[in-house]
Amino acid sequence: MISGPPRGMRDFYPEDVRLRNWLFSLWREVSESFGFEEYDGPLVESEELFTRKSGEEIVGQLYNFEDKGGRRLALRPEMTPTLARMIIAKGTSLPRPIKWFSIPQCFRYERMSRGRRREHYQWNLDIVGVKEPSAEAEVIAAAVEFLKRAGLGKDDFKVFLSNRRLLATLLRSKGLPDEKFAEVCVVIDKKGKVAEPALKEMMENLGLSAAMVDGVFEVLRVDSLEEAEGLLVGTNTSLEALEETKRVLEYLSYYGLAGFCRFDISIVRGLLYYTGPVFELFDVDRKFRAICGGGRYDNLLESYGGGKVTAVGLGFGDVVISEILAEKRLLPDFQKKIDFVVIPFSQQERKVAMELSQSLRTKGNNVSITLDTRKLGKALAGADRAGAEKVAIVAPDELAEGKVVLRDMRTGEEKAVPIGEVG
Ligand code: HAM
Repeated sequence: MISGPPRGMRDFYPEDVRLRNWLFSLWREVSESFGFEEYDGPLVESEELFTRKSGEEIVGQLYNFEDKGGRRLALRPEMTPTLARMIIAKGTSLPRPIKWFSIPQCFRYERMSRGRRREHYQWNLDIVGVKEPSAEAEVIAAAVEFLKRAGLGKDDFKVFLSNRRLLATLLRSKGLPDEKFAEVCVVIDKKGKVAEPALKEMMENLGLSAAMVDGVFEVLRVDSLEEAEGLLVGTNTSLEALEETKRVLEYLSYYGLAGFCRFDISIVRGLLYYTGPVFELFDVDRKFRAICGGGRYDNLLESYGGGKVTAVGLGFGDVVISEILAEKRLLPDFQKKIDFVVIPFSQQERKVAMELSQSLRTKGNNVSITLDTRKLGKALAGADRAGAEKVAIVAPDELAEGKVVLRDMRTGEEKAVPIGEVG
């Protein structure tokens, strides 16, 4: 017997869909309040869109297959490559900046753990064509706005921000060759999830000398932008990435969000296409996985054959945020609600009951009708379970006078009302 969905996949019973709809509508509301437009793409994409040559986990997690025509395809593990493909396809005809959002379902063959499933919905916000760090501030501010509207505050979550270019500069100053940077980022991304000796071993396995590994850990102990600056001044390296990071934080402070943000050098992100500022939002106790994450990816479109186009974006999954809101008892009470349940007393009254239901619907009410014939007590209990505000009982005595019994389910009050006056 097949008893459940495949491992890592979810069924959405009506109560789960109520939660999902609430989440999606808040994502949409916040996206629109920041001026983003919704787009969508196919769940199934060409496999080659996702098979970047790199040490990224996501490439090994593809749900890929061959279709009947012999094409290599994959379920999308993320939306950003689709976005890049869609923008490249339109060439320069799309006016810049492009501010788009989407809520795709994504599939990754993950090792299952708390907050990680093999399928999730991911709110994506992206800004294409803006070089200024105002773009980073915009997407981060939108994510924070969502969390605030969901009931979370400064004491619940923080934005941790860094900059890949800054990290590269710091690591270079410790002797790390540039060609090792991307692989080292994949290892650094595991910090906090894997113990320090295991991290060291991973770096040694990349061919880093013991001195270089020590250098990486020294850089990872940098706790502020001032400290980072201290390591760089006098080394003849560019301070551009440092200034860029400062500007993201400065712009966020203009939005009144300074108290939500802090610099954290160990934020690198698991995806290798990020080129500059990167960020992740976490609950303050770091009990859960990242709530969301993103950054600047200035080379991705070019790597797909588009021109040089700057881009910034974030992905925000439904799993972790639902866990956090459930734990903090912040999920709204998703009661079922229906305006009317119409109950025919017996089959004799069904015609009138159906006509009444239809006319109430035409007037804009949500109406359910008792579909089988059942005792009144049972029918009323069913109406209560359905979340009825009012019940219209079509019974023979009242019907003889052209009336139905209208019951207010909150007060229990009943009165006979002419059929035409219901609703
Ligand atoms: P990502 O960090 O791989 O980035 O995923 C973004 C968010 O999606 C995560 O922070 C988490 O909330 C959620 N997520 C990812 N994988 C899973 C999973 N297996 N189960 C549950 N939730 C998950 C990206 O995907 C980038 N494409 C985001 C982006 C958009 N960057 C620029 N634009």
